[in-house]
Amino acid sequence: MLLRTLLTACAFVPSPGKFPATGDDTIAGGIFCLSLTDLATYLAKTGNNPGATGTESPKGSAAATSGSGPYPAQTFTDSTLPKHTIYAPKKPPTNVTMPVIAWGNGGCATDPTTHSNFLLEIASHGYVIAADGIAGGKTGASQSMVTDMRASIDWFTKGTGAAKYGNVNTSALATMGHSCGGLESMSTAYHDDRVKRIVMFNIGIFNDEKRYLLQEIKVPVAWFVGGPKDMGYPNVEKDYKLLPAGLPAYKASLDTGHGGTFAATNGGKAAKGAVNYLEWQFRNDETAKAKLLDPKAAGSLVSDNWTVQFKNWT
Ligand SMILES: *[C@@H]1O[C@H](CO)[C@@H](O)[C@H](O)[C@H]1NC(C)=O
Ligand SMILES: *[C@@H]1O[C@H](CO)[C@@H](O)[C@H](O)[C@H]1NC(C)=O
Ligand SMILES: *[C@@H]1O[C@H](CO)[C@@H](O)[C@H](O)[C@H]1NC(C)=O
Repeated sequence: MLLRTLLTACAFVPSPGKFPATGDDTIAGGIFCLSLTDLATYLAKTGNNPGATGTESPKGSAAATSGSGPYPAQTFTDSTLPKHTIYAPKKPPTNVTMPVIAWGNGGCATDPTTHSNFLLEIASHGYVIAADGIAGGKTGASQSMVTDMRASIDWFTKGTGAAKYGNVNTSALATMGHSCGGLESMSTAYHDDRVKRIVMFNIGIFNDEKRYLLQEIKVPVAWFVGGPKDMGYPNVEKDYKLLPAGLPAYKASLDTGHGGTFAATNGGKAAKGAVNYLEWQFRNDETAKAKLLDPKAAGSLVSDNWTVQFKNWT
């Protein structure tokens, strides 16, 4: 018992062929992430500047709206999922079933406010999102863990708490996140077959010695990154190549640096990319699919200045 306690208190130590049962770790972001101390060392070595911006970076923060989709959205606090914020249509839609998303913030922060424009935009297209943290961040922890994102998945799949937001479809469940929250979304999806899609923003695995864990990813992965100035960019290039053979993957890059377009009106081009990806994946929307895959399609991501690569999708 004592040994077990000691072992579970230790951080995950990567070793080829060693696959832990879950993606949990003692550090925020889980087994695919690194500690804040190791991040400082990594940045000093590589010279990456997480604050670098690009030609497509939003200038300042736009005011929040209810999103541009057919189901105007808002934030909710919910006593059945404390320490989280719900983004959902203001009125439960009666004419659609809603895919569900567990979201992790940049820095694994415990306040999702900086991503609100983006999350409201997605919710307004008929999605229920449970985001780590609450406005003000007073959850009792400085960073979110895999257990926090798993609590969102449990809330969607096991309880009845999510039903008041409408007709949720728990067979259409994605983990998504920015930076540390993106790695948290991959760590949470690892060995949890309730998760059907992983969507990561501006981040890939930092540590080369952890990349072998990608062999255990069984669902399609989409990455939205911020061009060569984004510290996530070189790692996403590596991760994309190392997914299991045959697994569909999507990778789009826009010159924003690490910060993405979250602060823009309705979450900017990153939200447009995410909404179209989700509509394609979870609602078989062919127009949305074309925007992602066909550069010549009206409103394609390529026409929005994204550089796009994908595999195992036709
Ligand atoms: C559901 O109703 C809303 C509001 O009336 C409408 O905008 C939306 O297009 C409808 N969705 C579907 C899938 O019919
Ligand atoms: C739920 O989502 C799955 C996966 O996208 C889809 O196949 C199914 O048709 C959806 N169910 C409903 C009732 O919308
Ligand atoms: C693409 O980038 C160019 C150069 O920065 C810019 O002028 C143009 O408006 C961008 N296109 C779109 C659709 O945003």
